[in-house]
Amino acid sequence: MANAKGCIAVTGANRGIGAAIALALAREGYRVACLTRGGGTPDTGDAVLAERLLTLRCDVLDEQSVRAALACAAEEGGGLVGLVNNAGLHTTAKSAELATAEFERLMAINATAVFAAAREAHPHLVRAGGGLIVNIGSFFDKLGVKRNLAYCASKAAVGAITRCLAVEWARDNIRVVDVAPGYILTDLNREVMASGPLRSYLEGRIPRGEPGTADEVARLVAALYREDLRFLSGETIYIDGAQGIAH
Ligand SMILES: NC(=O)c1ccc[n+]([C@@H]2O[C@H](COP(=O)([O-])OP(=O)(O)OC[C@H]3O[C@@H](n4cnc5c(N)ncnc54)[C@H](OP(=O)(O)O)[C@@H]3O)[C@@H](O)[C@H]2O)c1
Repeated sequence: MANAKGCIAVTGANRGIGAAIALALAREGYRVACLTRGGGTPDTGDAVLAERLLTLRCDVLDEQSVRAALACAAEEGGGLVGLVNNAGLHTTAKSAELATAEFERLMAINATAVFAAAREAHPHLVRAGGGLIVNIGSFFDKLGVKRNLAYCASKAAVGAITRCLAVEWARDNIRVVDVAPGYILTDLNREVMASGPLRSYLEGRIPRGEPGTADEVARLVAALYREDLRFLSGETIYIDGAQGIAH
Protein backbone atom coordinates (compact mmCIF):
# COMPACT_ATOMS: atom_id res chain seq x y z
CA MET A 1 0.00 0.00 0.00
CA ALA A 2 1.62 3.27 -1.12
CA ASN A 3 1.36 6.26 1.15
CA ALA A 4 1.04 9.97 0.34
CA LYS A 5 3.77 10.85 2.90
CA GLY A 6 6.09 8.19 1.48
CA CYS A 7 8.03 5.46 3.18
CA ILE A 8 10.73 5.48 5.86
CA ALA A 9 12.92 2.39 6.29
CA VAL A 10 14.01 1.48 9.83
CA THR A 11 16.70 -1.15 10.40
CA GLY A 12 16.42 -3.44 13.42
CA ALA A 13 12.76 -2.46 13.80
CA ASN A 14 11.65 -5.72 15.41
CA ARG A 15 12.54 -4.77 18.99
CA GLY A 16 13.97 -2.17 21.35
CA ILE A 17 14.53 1.38 20.16
CA GLY A 18 13.98 0.41 16.50
CA ALA A 19 10.49 -0.94 17.19
CA ALA A 20 9.58 2.21 19.12
CA ILE A 21 10.84 4.38 16.23
CA ALA A 22 8.88 2.36 13.64
CA LEU A 23 5.67 2.78 15.64
CA ALA A 24 6.23 6.49 16.25
CA LEU A 25 6.76 7.08 12.52
CA ALA A 26 3.66 5.04 11.66
CA ARG A 27 1.71 7.24 14.10
CA GLU A 28 2.96 10.26 12.10
CA GLY A 29 1.25 8.72 9.07
CA TYR A 30 4.30 7.37 7.23
CA ARG A 31 4.52 3.96 5.63
CA VAL A 32 7.32 2.29 7.60
CA ALA A 33 9.48 -0.46 6.15
CA CYS A 34 10.68 -2.57 9.07
CA LEU A 35 13.99 -4.06 7.95
CA THR A 36 14.59 -7.01 10.24
CA ARG A 37 16.84 -10.07 10.15
CA GLY A 38 14.21 -12.52 11.36
CA GLY A 39 11.20 -10.98 9.60
CA GLY A 40 9.70 -9.80 12.90
CA THR A 41 7.43 -6.73 13.07
CA PRO A 42 6.80 -4.58 16.13
CA ASP A 43 3.57 -5.35 17.93
CA THR A 44 1.15 -2.45 17.35
CA GLY A 45 -2.10 -3.62 18.92
CA ASP A 46 -3.74 -1.26 16.40
CA ALA A 47 -5.03 -2.30 12.97
CA VAL A 48 -4.54 1.14 11.36
CA LEU A 49 -0.89 1.32 12.48
CA ALA A 50 -0.28 -2.30 11.51
CA GLU A 51 -1.43 -1.48 7.96
CA ARG A 52 1.29 1.14 7.67
CA LEU A 53 4.05 -1.33 8.54
CA LEU A 54 5.80 -3.27 5.83
CA THR A 55 8.09 -6.05 7.05
CA LEU A 56 11.12 -6.83 4.94
CA ARG A 57 13.81 -9.37 5.75
CA CYS A 58 17.19 -7.70 5.76
CA ASP A 59 20.56 -8.39 7.32
CA VAL A 60 22.40 -5.07 7.42
CA LEU A 61 25.69 -6.94 6.93
CA ASP A 62 24.49 -8.22 3.56
CA GLU A 63 24.56 -5.35 1.05
CA GLN A 64 22.49 -7.30 -1.47
CA SER A 65 19.67 -7.72 1.04
CA VAL A 66 19.87 -4.04 2.04
CA ARG A 67 19.69 -3.01 -1.63
CA ALA A 68 16.71 -5.29 -2.29
CA ALA A 69 14.85 -4.23 0.86
CA LEU A 70 15.27 -0.50 0.15
CA ALA A 71 14.14 -0.97 -3.47
CA CYS A 72 11.06 -2.81 -2.23
CA ALA A 73 10.36 -0.14 0.42
CA ALA A 74 10.55 2.60 -2.24
CA GLU A 75 8.34 0.67 -4.65
CA GLU A 76 5.68 -0.48 -2.18
CA GLY A 77 5.69 2.61 0.00
CA GLY A 78 5.20 5.28 -2.63
CA GLY A 79 8.82 6.50 -2.62
CA LEU A 80 11.55 6.40 0.01
CA VAL A 81 11.75 9.65 2.00
CA GLY A 82 13.76 8.46 4.97
CA LEU A 83 16.10 5.88 6.47
CA VAL A 84 16.72 5.26 10.15
CA ASN A 85 19.94 3.33 10.70
CA ASN A 86 19.11 1.82 14.08
CA ALA A 87 20.42 -1.79 14.00
CA GLY A 88 23.44 -2.08 16.24
CA LEU A 89 25.47 -4.29 18.49
CA HIS A 90 27.08 -3.73 21.88
CA THR A 91 29.71 -6.00 23.35
CA THR A 92 32.37 -5.40 25.99
CA ALA A 93 35.94 -6.61 26.35
CA LYS A 94 39.11 -5.45 28.05
CA SER A 95 41.05 -3.54 25.38
CA ALA A 96 44.22 -5.53 26.11
CA GLU A 97 42.31 -8.69 25.26
CA LEU A 98 40.07 -7.34 22.47
CA ALA A 99 40.51 -9.45 19.33
CA THR A 100 40.80 -7.55 16.05
CA ALA A 101 37.97 -9.68 14.67
CA GLU A 102 35.66 -8.53 17.48
CA PHE A 103 36.64 -4.88 16.91
CA GLU A 104 35.86 -5.32 13.21
CA ARG A 105 32.56 -7.09 13.96
CA LEU A 106 31.28 -4.07 15.88
CA MET A 107 32.59 -1.64 13.26
CA ALA A 108 30.87 -3.69 10.54
CA ILE A 109 27.39 -3.49 12.09
CA ASN A 110 27.56 -0.13 13.85
CA ALA A 111 29.51 1.89 11.27
CA THR A 112 30.13 0.20 7.89
CA ALA A 113 26.50 -0.92 7.58
CA VAL A 114 25.30 2.62 8.39
CA PHE A 115 27.35 4.04 5.53
CA ALA A 116 26.37 1.21 3.14
CA ALA A 117 22.63 1.52 3.84
CA ALA A 118 22.83 5.30 3.36
CA ARG A 119 24.63 4.79 0.04
CA GLU A 120 21.97 2.29 -1.09
CA ALA A 121 19.18 4.66 -0.01
CA HIS A 122 20.71 7.64 -1.82
CA PRO A 123 19.28 7.03 -5.34
CA HIS A 124 15.80 6.41 -3.90
CA LEU A 125 15.93 9.58 -1.79
CA VAL A 126 17.11 11.58 -4.80
CA ARG A 127 14.22 10.15 -6.83
CA ALA A 128 11.81 11.24 -4.09
CA GLY A 129 13.19 14.80 -4.24
CA GLY A 130 15.24 14.44 -1.04
CA GLY A 131 14.76 13.12 2.46
CA LEU A 132 16.16 12.63 5.93
CA ILE A 133 18.55 9.95 7.17
CA VAL A 134 18.70 9.48 10.94
CA ASN A 135 21.62 7.46 12.27
CA ILE A 136 21.30 6.11 15.79
CA GLY A 137 24.65 6.74 17.47
CA SER A 138 25.44 6.82 21.17
CA PHE A 139 26.71 9.30 23.75
CA PHE A 140 29.65 6.89 24.13
CA ASP A 141 30.93 8.48 20.89
CA LYS A 142 32.62 11.23 22.93
CA LEU A 143 33.45 9.32 26.09
CA GLY A 144 36.34 7.12 27.16
CA VAL A 145 34.65 4.01 28.51
CA LYS A 146 36.51 1.04 29.96
CA ARG A 147 35.95 -2.25 28.07
CA ASN A 148 34.01 -0.34 25.36
CA LEU A 149 36.74 0.60 22.87
CA ALA A 150 35.13 -1.02 19.81
CA TYR A 151 31.63 0.29 20.59
CA CYS A 152 32.90 3.84 21.28
CA ALA A 153 35.00 3.86 18.09
CA SER A 154 32.06 2.58 16.00
CA LYS A 155 29.70 5.23 17.35
CA ALA A 156 32.29 7.99 16.85
CA ALA A 157 32.41 6.79 13.22
CA VAL A 158 28.63 7.24 13.01
CA GLY A 159 29.10 10.92 13.89
CA ALA A 160 31.77 11.29 11.18
CA ILE A 161 29.67 9.47 8.56
CA THR A 162 26.72 11.73 9.45
CA ARG A 163 28.77 14.91 8.99
CA CYS A 164 30.33 13.82 5.69
CA LEU A 165 27.05 12.70 4.11
CA ALA A 166 25.25 15.83 5.32
CA VAL A 167 27.81 18.02 3.54
CA GLU A 168 28.05 15.91 0.40
CA TRP A 169 24.32 15.33 -0.11
CA ALA A 170 22.97 18.74 0.98
CA ARG A 171 22.47 19.79 -2.67
CA ASP A 172 20.45 16.59 -3.19
CA ASN A 173 18.09 17.93 -0.53
CA ILE A 174 19.10 15.06 1.76
CA ARG A 175 19.71 15.81 5.43
CA VAL A 176 21.55 13.48 7.79
CA VAL A 177 21.30 13.62 11.59
CA ASP A 178 22.91 11.49 14.31
CA VAL A 179 20.59 10.85 17.29
CA ALA A 180 22.86 9.73 20.12
CA PRO A 181 21.11 8.22 23.16
CA GLY A 182 22.46 7.70 26.65
CA TYR A 183 21.30 4.75 28.77
CA ILE A 184 17.90 3.71 27.43
CA LEU A 185 15.49 1.28 29.01
CA THR A 186 14.30 -1.33 26.52
CA ASP A 187 12.44 -4.60 27.01
CA LEU A 188 15.74 -6.43 26.78
CA ASN A 189 17.62 -4.58 29.52
CA ARG A 190 14.60 -3.60 31.64
CA GLU A 191 15.34 -6.13 34.38
CA VAL A 192 19.02 -5.31 34.72
CA MET A 193 18.44 -1.54 34.52
CA ALA A 194 15.33 -1.48 36.74
CA SER A 195 17.03 -2.74 39.90
CA GLY A 196 20.34 -3.92 41.32
CA PRO A 197 23.85 -2.45 40.98
CA LEU A 198 23.39 -0.98 37.46
CA ARG A 199 20.26 0.86 38.63
CA SER A 200 22.05 2.46 41.59
CA TYR A 201 25.05 3.31 39.39
CA LEU A 202 22.76 5.02 36.86
CA GLU A 203 20.84 6.88 39.55
CA GLY A 204 24.16 8.35 40.67
CA ARG A 205 25.55 9.08 37.19
CA ILE A 206 22.54 10.37 35.24
CA PRO A 207 21.72 13.91 36.40
CA ARG A 208 17.98 13.28 36.08
CA GLY A 209 18.41 10.12 38.18
CA GLU A 210 17.01 7.55 35.77
CA PRO A 211 17.61 6.14 32.29
CA GLY A 212 15.67 7.23 29.23
CA THR A 213 13.02 5.21 27.43
CA ALA A 214 12.86 3.88 23.88
CA ASP A 215 9.71 5.97 23.49
CA GLU A 216 11.63 9.20 24.25
CA VAL A 217 14.20 8.42 21.55
CA ALA A 218 11.42 7.45 19.13
CA ARG A 219 9.54 10.71 19.76
CA LEU A 220 12.70 12.70 19.03
CA VAL A 221 13.19 10.84 15.73
CA ALA A 222 9.51 11.32 14.82
CA ALA A 223 9.80 15.04 15.61
CA LEU A 224 12.78 15.35 13.25
CA TYR A 225 10.66 13.94 10.41
CA ARG A 226 7.55 15.92 11.38
CA GLU A 227 9.20 19.31 11.80
CA ASP A 228 11.24 19.15 8.58
CA LEU A 229 13.89 21.60 9.84
CA ARG A 230 15.70 22.28 6.58
CA PHE A 231 18.69 24.05 8.18
CA LEU A 232 19.41 21.14 10.57
CA SER A 233 21.86 18.63 9.16
CA GLY A 234 25.13 16.91 10.05
CA GLU A 235 24.63 17.34 13.79
CA THR A 236 24.75 14.82 16.61
CA ILE A 237 21.80 15.34 18.95
CA TYR A 238 22.36 13.82 22.38
CA ILE A 239 19.41 12.44 24.35
CA ASP A 240 21.09 11.29 27.54
CA GLY A 241 19.54 13.16 30.49
CA ALA A 242 22.68 15.39 30.47
CA GLN A 243 24.94 12.50 31.52
CA GLY A 244 27.44 13.12 28.71
CA ILE A 245 28.16 16.69 29.85
CA ALA A 246 27.97 16.14 33.61
CA HIS A 247 31.06 16.63 35.78
N1 LIG B 1 19.73 0.70 24.64
C1 LIG B 1 20.62 1.65 24.91
O1 LIG B 1 20.89 1.97 26.09
C2 LIG B 1 21.32 2.38 23.78
C3 LIG B 1 22.08 3.50 24.10
C4 LIG B 1 22.73 4.19 23.07
C5 LIG B 1 22.61 3.78 21.75
N2 LIG B 1 21.86 2.67 21.48
C6 LIG B 1 21.79 2.27 20.06
O2 LIG B 1 20.43 2.17 19.67
C7 LIG B 1 20.29 1.17 18.67
C8 LIG B 1 19.23 0.17 19.09
O3 LIG B 1 19.58 -0.31 20.38
P1 LIG B 1 18.64 -1.26 21.25
O4 LIG B 1 18.99 -1.04 22.66
O5 LIG B 1 17.24 -1.16 20.80
O6 LIG B 1 19.30 -2.65 20.83
P2 LIG B 1 18.75 -4.11 20.83
O7 LIG B 1 17.51 -4.24 21.66
O8 LIG B 1 19.93 -4.97 21.12
O9 LIG B 1 18.35 -4.28 19.30
C9 LIG B 1 19.31 -4.27 18.31
C10 LIG B 1 18.57 -4.36 16.99
O10 LIG B 1 19.55 -4.42 15.95
C11 LIG B 1 19.23 -5.54 15.14
N3 LIG B 1 20.41 -6.08 14.46
C12 LIG B 1 21.59 -6.45 14.99
N4 LIG B 1 22.38 -6.93 14.03
C13 LIG B 1 21.67 -6.88 12.86
C14 LIG B 1 21.93 -7.24 11.51
N5 LIG B 1 23.11 -7.77 11.15
N6 LIG B 1 20.97 -7.02 10.58
C15 LIG B 1 19.78 -6.49 10.94
N7 LIG B 1 19.47 -6.14 12.19
C16 LIG B 1 20.41 -6.34 13.14
C17 LIG B 1 18.64 -6.55 16.11
O11 LIG B 1 17.97 -7.56 15.40
P3 LIG B 1 17.77 -9.06 15.98
O12 LIG B 1 16.54 -9.02 16.85
O13 LIG B 1 17.61 -9.89 14.76
O14 LIG B 1 19.01 -9.39 16.76
C18 LIG B 1 17.73 -5.63 16.91
O15 LIG B 1 16.55 -5.35 16.20
C19 LIG B 1 21.67 0.55 18.49
O16 LIG B 1 22.33 1.16 17.40
C20 LIG B 1 22.38 0.91 19.79
O17 LIG B 1 23.78 0.94 19.67
C21 LIG B 1 21.21 1.96 22.45
